[in-house]
This record gives sequence, C-alpha cells and structure tokens, in this order.
Amino acid sequence: MAADYGNGAPAESAYQRAREQLGQRRHHWLVTGVAGFIGSNLLEALLELGQRVTGLDNFLTGHRHNLEQVRAAVGPRAWERFCLIDGDIRDLGQCRQACAGVDYVLHQAALGSVPRSIAEPLLCNDINVGGFLKLLLAARDAGVARLVYAASSASYGDDAALPKQEGRSGRPLSPYALSKSVNELYAEVFARCYGGQAIGLRYFNVFGPRQDPEGDYAAVIPRWIAALIHDRRLLIHGDGESSRDFCFVGNVVQANLLAALSDNPAAPNQVYNVAVGARTSLNELYLMLHGLLVERFPHLRDYRPDYADFRAGDVRHSQADIGKAAALLGYAPTHDVARGLRQAIHWYVGNLGPPR
Ligand SMILES: NC(=O)c1ccc[n+]([C@@H]2O[C@H](COP(=O)([O-])OP(=O)(O)OC[C@H]3O[C@@H](n4cnc5c(N)ncnc54)[C@H](O)[C@@H]3O)[C@@H](O)[C@H]2O)c1
Repeated sequence: MAADYGNGAPAESAYQRAREQLGQRRHHWLVTGVAGFIGSNLLEALLELGQRVTGLDNFLTGHRHNLEQVRAAVGPRAWERFCLIDGDIRDLGQCRQACAGVDYVLHQAALGSVPRSIAEPLLCNDINVGGFLKLLLAARDAGVARLVYAASSASYGDDAALPKQEGRSGRPLSPYALSKSVNELYAEVFARCYGGQAIGLRYFNVFGPRQDPEGDYAAVIPRWIAALIHDRRLLIHGDGESSRDFCFVGNVVQANLLAALSDNPAAPNQVYNVAVGARTSLNELYLMLHGLLVERFPHLRDYRPDYADFRAGDVRHSQADIGKAAALLGYAPTHDVARGLRQAIHWYVGNLGPPR
C-alpha cells in the first residue's frame, strides 16, 4: 500500500502548494541515509512526486529491504529516477560524487542511537560530526541550493522547560546529543563564512513504516508492538506517565519538503522543531496500541504490561512548540499520534510477523 503523505491536507496549505510545485518541476535530490527509516520514506515521497533522487548509504543501520519496499510501492518507472551510491559520508570523494548536479540535499545519515553513541563515542563523532562536515563541504562546492539536515530533540538536553522552543536548550546528555548540536553550529558557521543555505529539523520521536523493529536500540513503538503480537513481556519504565511528542513520519516528510522549497527569505539558516506539538504518556501509548491490536490478536484480551524502574537519563516529558515551523515554513502536521498509528499499524503487523 502506498504511504499517505498528507494528500488530505487543506487545498491551500503550504504543503499542498509545495507538492503541486514539485508536480510541475523535476529537481534532483540527494537523500543521505536513504536505506534507513526516515530516508526511505523521503525517497518514496519524492519518487511519487516525479522527482529525481540520488541516495547515499553505507547500510550501517539501513536495509536493502527498505529500498525494495519503496521500489514495490512506486513501481518500476518511478524507480528509474533513483540512483543509489553504496557509500559513506565519511568519504569526502563519495560526498562529492553524491552532490554532483544536485539541487537539494536531505541529510539523514547518522548513527541515530543514544545508547550506541555512549558505547561508541568515536564512531558517533566520525559519522555524525566528521561525516556531516564532509557533506557540508561537498554541498557547498557543488553549489547545492539548500541542505536540509536531520537535527534532534536530543539537543534540548537536560532543560526541563516545556514546550521545547528552539531558542532555549540545556546541556547535552549523550555523545549523540552533542553531535547533533555540533551539526547546528557547523551549519550556522558555514552560512556565515561561505554563504549557502541550510535548515536543521529537530525531529522528536518519529514512528511509522520501515522503522527498524529489530536490534538492541529499537524505538519504543516497534518494540512494544513486537512484544504485543508475539505475546512477550512488555516493560514500561517508571509509572507510565512519562510522555513524548510522538511524530508520524509523514509529518517529517512534509517538514523536509517545506524546508527545502520554502521561498520565505526568513526560513533558511534556522533550526525548527518537527513534531505534533502534543504529549502522549507511555500509558496512553500502550492503550492505543493495545486497542489497535486486540481485535486481531485475541490473546491480548487479558494482556497486562509490566512496570520497571525509571531508566537513568530518560527525560520525564518532551513536547515541542511547533510554532516556528508553522510560521516560517507553513508546517502543519497532517497526522496526530492516533491517526499515524492507525496508518502505520498495518506495516508493523505485516513486518513483525504472526504471533509465535
Ligand atoms: N527516528 C527518530 O525518532 C529520530 C529522532 C531525531 C533525529 N533523528 C535523526 O534522523 C535521521 C534518520 O534517522 P532514522 O530513524 O531514519 O535512522 P536509521 O538508522 O534508520 O537511518 C540512518 C541511515 O543512515 C545510514 N548511515 C549511517 N552511517 C552512515 C555513513 N557513515 N554513511 C552513509 N550512510 C550512513 C544508515 O545505514 C541508515 O540507513 C538521523 O540523522 C537521526 O539522528 C531520528
């Protein structure tokens, strides 16, 4: 089933206008991290909009089956507009090759896991900082019109103020958070020293199709769905009242396209929160997932989650103020958590297998 990227948005929305604009004009895009969760969703949306896409990925955490799913969704003709470079952003030559002739870069490649960054800080820095710098250089020299990059809500660090606003951050809590903050500083310095346009998108907890359900660092939504459908133990850390601003990947696709295409002169060289602007507690999330799955999996009727200690380092609440993205980019999320989960659940169930 093809993904719904918000075609149902009001006709006059900035996103609708951006999509119409793309329908009339083919650009050349570079998506780094194209085989990953968010990168492959960007690829799918761009190919569906008639765009030409180069992808760069070293398959560190991305998967060829993600690209196969995109190919199946868009069909063979659209797929001809995609070219994959099996390469590494730590290699300046490969960054230059990938940026050649490109209008817009959507940079997603990174080591995206906080625990892994704590276990492997050198690797995190090499990819997330060194690789980012090489891509900035390559994009600058290739004359790319705009580079949009994945920043992170992790940059808010230990600041407890809610909702999170772009102008105020705390101290970073992990090598990952630090690397994403350094990205923002480098983008700012490049704009100042060399000109050029970059936009950072601070994603909050993103979910949706092709989110990796495997591995030690799987995010809470795929991990819980796997536990529920396989009738395994589901652990909620703390009292379940911790909350997050869970964001469906279709909203992230929208933010990327708007950031790349915005003709608002105030839009470039800024960072923006990308989320829904709402809070969902872990208990509420559990009830939503249980409600979506219980009809299909009768063993869930008597299922109860387990509660364990709070995890060290977890922030209690997270919620974005999305006012800046709304005002400067015209960002208007099409999917709240409930709608996003309803849309994504088919993919999760289909890809996490039948109950054992
Ligand atoms: N998923 C979220 O909730 C979330 C939240 C905040 C920020 N982000 C950021 O969004 C981006 C995409 O995240 P994702 O969830 O899709 O993660 P992902 O792990 O699915 O995708 C990352 C992709 O980058 C590729 N990659 C890693 N190192 C590379 C390198 N050296 N050269 C080339 N490719 C490389 C991986 O193989 C993978 O395909 C990341 O920058 C991440 O930090 C994600």
